Amino acid sequence: MKESNSKHRILILGASGYIGHSIYKELGPYFRTFGTYRTPRKEFETNKQFFQYNIEEDDVYEILEACKPTIIISTLRGDFNAQIIAHQHITEYILDTATRVIFLSSANAFDAYSKYPSYELDKTLSHSVYGHFKIKIENMLLRLPKKQVAILRLPMVFGVNCPRIQEIKSLISDNEAVEIFPNLIMNVTLDKKVTQQIHYIINRNKYGVFHLGSTDLVHHDEFIKEILAFVSEKKALLKHVFTTNDDRYLAVLPKYNKLPKHLQITSQTVLEELQK
Ligand SMILES: NC(=O)c1ccc[n+]([C@@H]2O[C@H](COP(=O)([O-])OP(=O)(O)OC[C@H]3O[C@@H](n4cnc5c(N)ncnc54)[C@H](OP(=O)(O)O)[C@@H]3O)[C@@H](O)[C@H]2O)c1
Repeated sequence: MKESNSKHRILILGASGYIGHSIYKELGPYFRTFGTYRTPRKEFETNKQFFQYNIEEDDVYEILEACKPTIIISTLRGDFNAQIIAHQHITEYILDTATRVIFLSSANAFDAYSKYPSYELDKTLSHSVYGHFKIKIENMLLRLPKKQVAILRLPMVFGVNCPRIQEIKSLISDNEAVEIFPNLIMNVTLDKKVTQQIHYIINRNKYGVFHLGSTDLVHHDEFIKEILAFVSEKKALLKHVFTTNDDRYLAVLPKYNKLPKHLQITSQTVLEELQK
């Protein structure tokens, strides 16, 4: 799939992270792709496409000026206030240029609603600090010209040896309990699918709010138990965490801004891919 618009210069903020690095590997062969890392690592220090960037100390504007991206993909973590300021600077840059932004948001933008799964046009509302912060950045970006913005709301992302699975493996080997949430109904996705979805959104100049969760829902405890069945031969200790008496949804389902069939995913496919 050689691109028709390989003129793009893409900056991935957080390209050393789990999802950011998967996106870098997906897009790198096709576009001029730049990335940021915070924690010093040889592989990034010697790579001229990478910039060291600490959101609490550095001005993102300098990186934007240095690589002049046509697309910015924001996959950062870090201090929430510093992230808000950085995204304010990004919005100023976007208003001055034709640059597009793709922001990785979260199902937590809806964590105050527990009774139903959420769709793209539902009003966001959160009771958590993390969810609040994601909503604040989303709202800031949604005030920009709409064709320049894509908000991707993600549920829990899994992949072979992803941080969540590594954590589960180390809990098992340390004889510590793995937490499961029997009342939590959620959807899930796969890192490989998210990167393909982003590639498609870039190629087709798609914009708006996307819900990138599996098309079906799973109970957290059942899904994690399925993973436990193949990640370790040793039996895992379980800690059942009940946050409410009733079932609680934390799911981002697509309805209005759907991607083509081959870019949709089910929880069963996520499990199958994890076992490959
Ligand atoms: N993983 C999921 O299941 C999931 C679900 C929903 C939404 N998301 C969203 O997706 C995005 C990426 O998540 P992830 O799981 O890939 O996170 P991650 O693996 O922790 O990566 C975070 C990235 O941010 C960088 N970073 C952290 N603190 C920083 C700071 N103070 N200054 C500058 N850079 C900093 C890290 O750099 P170093 O590693 O070099 O320090 C890394 O590149 C996040 O915005 C997250 O909210 C993730």
